[in-house]
Amino acid sequence: MDDGRFPLPPEDASLDDSVLSGMGSCLKGVFITFEGMDGCGKSTQIELLAKALTDHGYVVTVTREPGGTPLGEGIRSMLLDPKHQGMSARAEALLYAAARAHLVEQVIRPALEDGQIVLCDRYIDSSLAYQGFGRGLGTDYIMLVNDWGTQGLYPDVTLFLDLDDSLRSTRMAAVPDRLEAEDESFHQRVAHGFRELLNMQPHRIRRVDATGSAAEVQERVRAIIEQELELFSH
Ligand code: TYD
Repeated sequence: MDDGRFPLPPEDASLDDSVLSGMGSCLKGVFITFEGMDGCGKSTQIELLAKALTDHGYVVTVTREPGGTPLGEGIRSMLLDPKHQGMSARAEALLYAAARAHLVEQVIRPALEDGQIVLCDRYIDSSLAYQGFGRGLGTDYIMLVNDWGTQGLYPDVTLFLDLDDSLRSTRMAAVPDRLEAEDESFHQRVAHGFRELLNMQPHRIRRVDATGSAAEVQERVRAIIEQELELFSH
């Protein structure tokens, strides 16, 4: 491959984060994912970025997880419905992975092959943080099922929107869904999980300070996108 995006194999052949970050999706388009705790303002930032990119002439596909397809939205309803409280952690992890596998095959991969920019609200990192750390399933099997489910499709860059707990709680839905209704210790494990992921993959996952107005946060988002992918300078 000579498009300049594919990294040379590292000398010791161990794939470290800087090498993985150079791989991205390896498709014609650009794959950007957004992560964060509930109520961090992801959807607003995705909408603003999608508009800016579209105004710049790009074809943009916006999607979300779990969901983004009729099957995925069906799985989402099952996952978030409080009546399924007590769902087995492994069933939960597999349902998220199933919705993702379908979304990748039906929406994300075709859009990337077509050269589009795909913005996805949550992706594998959410499964690592919520199911791997939050549910205590560990990251190895979560990686395994998701690597298989997505056929190894990873984002070019992931933005982690970081917002203080007290500010997030003011933006939470009045009626909590099944995940939001989990106890404080679960949410603390998830937050710890995201911090670990940021430490483990600093080249791919970039932290965005999500305090301030939507416009201020969007400026930070765009600065990173520009620095990483130079999408606005063409
Ligand atoms: P989302 O719609 O992003 O919720 P919010 O808008 O409140 O951020 O995601 C739904 C919930 O599903 C959210 O609590 C995070 C959780 N989730 C997982 O536990 N694992 C996953 O793999 C994904 C994608 C989401």
